[in-house]
Amino acid sequence: MAEILATAKAAARAAGMRILQKRGSKVDRKASNDLITEADLEAQQIVIDTIHSPFPNHTVLAEEGDAAKQKVGGNTWIVDPLDGTNNFAHGVPQFAVSIAYAQDARVCAGVVYDPVRNEMFSAYEGMGAYLDDMPIAPSCAQSLEETIAAFGFYYDRDALMKQTLDTLERLLRSRIRGIRRFGSAALDCCWVGCGRFDAYFEYRLSPWDFAAGAMIAREAGARVSTCEAGELQLEPGSVCVAAPGVYDSFFNIVRREHA
Ligand code: IPD
Ligand code: CA
Ligand code: CA
Repeated sequence: MAEILATAKAAARAAGMRILQKRGSKVDRKASNDLITEADLEAQQIVIDTIHSPFPNHTVLAEEGDAAKQKVGGNTWIVDPLDGTNNFAHGVPQFAVSIAYAQDARVCAGVVYDPVRNEMFSAYEGMGAYLDDMPIAPSCAQSLEETIAAFGFYYDRDALMKQTLDTLERLLRSRIRGIRRFGSAALDCCWVGCGRFDAYFEYRLSPWDFAAGAMIAREAGARVSTCEAGELQLEPGSVCVAAPGVYDSFFNIVRREHA
């Protein structure tokens, strides 16, 4: 366990430093509003090299390039080298490196590193979650009136955009205290884990967006599920994370029957 976490943290720190060095570098498009930068690619290579140095036989499932097509099984690392690329490309200081480690498709360790704040969120299954060396816990909020919720929009703006907007309207009508769209799913999950946000939902994410963050939030004591009441799997899908005192009321509003 110690070696897994140490490797994940070293990889995340090294990638984070490179991302900061690459501020202002060239931006390309994967789709009209889905960007990719040199920072995404270089950070990913740093993470892969750092993992493969002690663990040459482990599989790395990473967002960019062919690595994303690999199946999760055995010893697998799930990597988003830069979560929050649009923020990064626009100079908005909210992005992170996300690295999870899974055995047989079960996530047992994760780190999410925010290089701007130099904050390292980490967790190992059954050992609690930490921000740097301090244990973290979700907020004590008990109602939506006390809840600040984060959410995200999928890049594809078709059916999911309408569903998300309808849910936001229901949340606002429920007298929720506030709603935020910060632009890094990994940090959104960790921020529920440490009580900055009380709840978070998004209707479609990829495994690298949530694998580490959802695990960290769960280990911190938050409740985590899909928005269809299922268990999170390492496959594309929805995510709902909330402090225990508000999970039921939040989930009742963001819930949908089918993905
Ligand atoms: C995105 C961010 C964003 C979320 C999107 C993700 P990326 O990841 O996590 O907050 O709303 O759904 O795709 O593309 O910046 O790695
Ligand atoms: Ca991402
Ligand atoms: Ca990314």
